[in-house]
Parts: sequence; C-alpha cells; structure tokens
Amino acid sequence: MSHSLLPLAFFVILLVQVVVAVDPNWYDARATFYGDEGGAETMQGACGYGDLFKQGYGLATTALSTALFHNGATCGACFEIICVNDPQWCIEGAGSIIVTATNFCPPNYTKPKEIWCNPPQKHFDLSYKMFTTIAKYEAGVIPVKYRRVPCIKSGGVRFELNGNPYFVIVLVYNVANAGDVTRMSVKGSNTGWIPMSRNWGQNWNLGSNLVGQALSFWVTTSDGKALEFSSVAPSNWQFGQTYEGNGNFL
Ligand SMILES: *[C@@H]1O[C@H](CO)[C@@H](O)[C@H](O)[C@H]1NC(C)=O
Repeated sequence: MSHSLLPLAFFVILLVQVVVAVDPNWYDARATFYGDEGGAETMQGACGYGDLFKQGYGLATTALSTALFHNGATCGACFEIICVNDPQWCIEGAGSIIVTATNFCPPNYTKPKEIWCNPPQKHFDLSYKMFTTIAKYEAGVIPVKYRRVPCIKSGGVRFELNGNPYFVIVLVYNVANAGDVTRMSVKGSNTGWIPMSRNWGQNWNLGSNLVGQALSFWVTTSDGKALEFSSVAPSNWQFGQTYEGNGNFL
C-alpha cells in the first residue's frame, strides 16, 4: 500500500469500528408469560414506556431477565423468538413471534425453584398473547431460540417530555431498527449540546432547565448509528406532550 493511501485506510477502519451491526445470531433461552389476554399487566413496565397500545407496541412485548436487560440499556430492542425442542408444548408450525423489550423480569434470590429470571439465565417473560402464539399456555415455561431483529416502526422517533422545570425527563420511543437507545444529548436554542443521563429504562434526564427553549436531540442506538432531531420540540413545549422527530433509524 502506498503511503498516500494509509490515512484513508485508517479512516475506513474507524468507520467500521463505530457502526457495529446488531448480532444476528440465534441463541438459547427460556420463556414464560405474565398477565392475561387483555394485557393490562404488561402495560407500563421498567423501560418507562406508558400505554403500550398508544405507543404502538401493543401486546408484542416482553420482559427481560437481568442477563438480557442490561440495566435498561436493552429497552426498545426487538427479538424474534421461536419455541424449540418441546413437541409437547410448542405449537407445531406456529413460526416465530417478534417482540419489543418493554419490561424487566426481576431475579428472586429467595425462591428455591423456577427462578428463570435469575442471572446468568437468559429469559423472556412474554405477554400472554405472544406466549400462546408459539406454545400451549399450560406449558408454563418453554425452551426457545431467539435473535435480535430490526424493529419496524412507522413514523418518526418520539420524545415525551415529563417532570417539572427543574427535573425534565424525556422518554424516547418508537425507535426503528436497533431500537435500543444507548446515548442521548440535548441542545436548547440558547445552549450547546449537553449529554443526558439515563434515569430509568428509556427515560433520560435533561439535566438543566431548558423551559422556553426549542429542543433538539441527538440520539445514538446500540449499533452506533446516530441521528439529530433538530428543534423537535418548539420553544413553547409543554410537560406531558409528545413531539415526533422528522425521521427514524434506517
Ligand atoms: C421470591 O420468592 C419467595 C419464595 O417463593 C416469595 O415468597 C417472594 O414473594 C418472592 N419475591 C418476589 C418479590 O416476588
């Protein structure tokens, strides 16, 4: 390689390191379900999403065990799941389900058995609807294979502003492709970019009082892709309102 090409080669290597593909491989895990057909119990949840129907997740959701949840960093990721190696309980020909991570399945260190969500076990606690799509509900627990898949969403990334002027919390949702937001920054119309910190799930702290300023967000997902949403909330933004970004992750 000639010397003049070296800087180019370094540049290409840098690009490859920054954008990391979401792992497409299949892995083993187990699955159970919680809640009933209506899905009331699978609303809300540790990722901080609220009304999952309103937000477009519906009943296609799962809670994740500690080994998959990563303290909320996996919230919003999408998984394809199939029931395997259990002819008695898997529904033959059911195919796969695709679910978004919206909740946490907490470990229980005092329970003597059926501690599916304890580390280091990979476990999906599915909505009733999703579980019974691939298995008979009497099974209780089933062996599954799972893989990460791109999240399919319609419309732009959405930002719900909550809290009070001194403690603004931004819920980021309807994130396509990788789905799990790993970094967020905010810019008021009178400020530079300010890094935000994860409060819980996909709720991020604004950090400073930006009431009365138009807000722009810089959102990075786990695959390293980043998008800027310029002035997504106008200067007269209100608490409790959701603002939709112009675009989504491809
Ligand atoms: C953990 O398991 C124990 C024993 O089965 C049970 O009594 C307790 O309620 C469980 N804790 C939670 C938080 O579910």
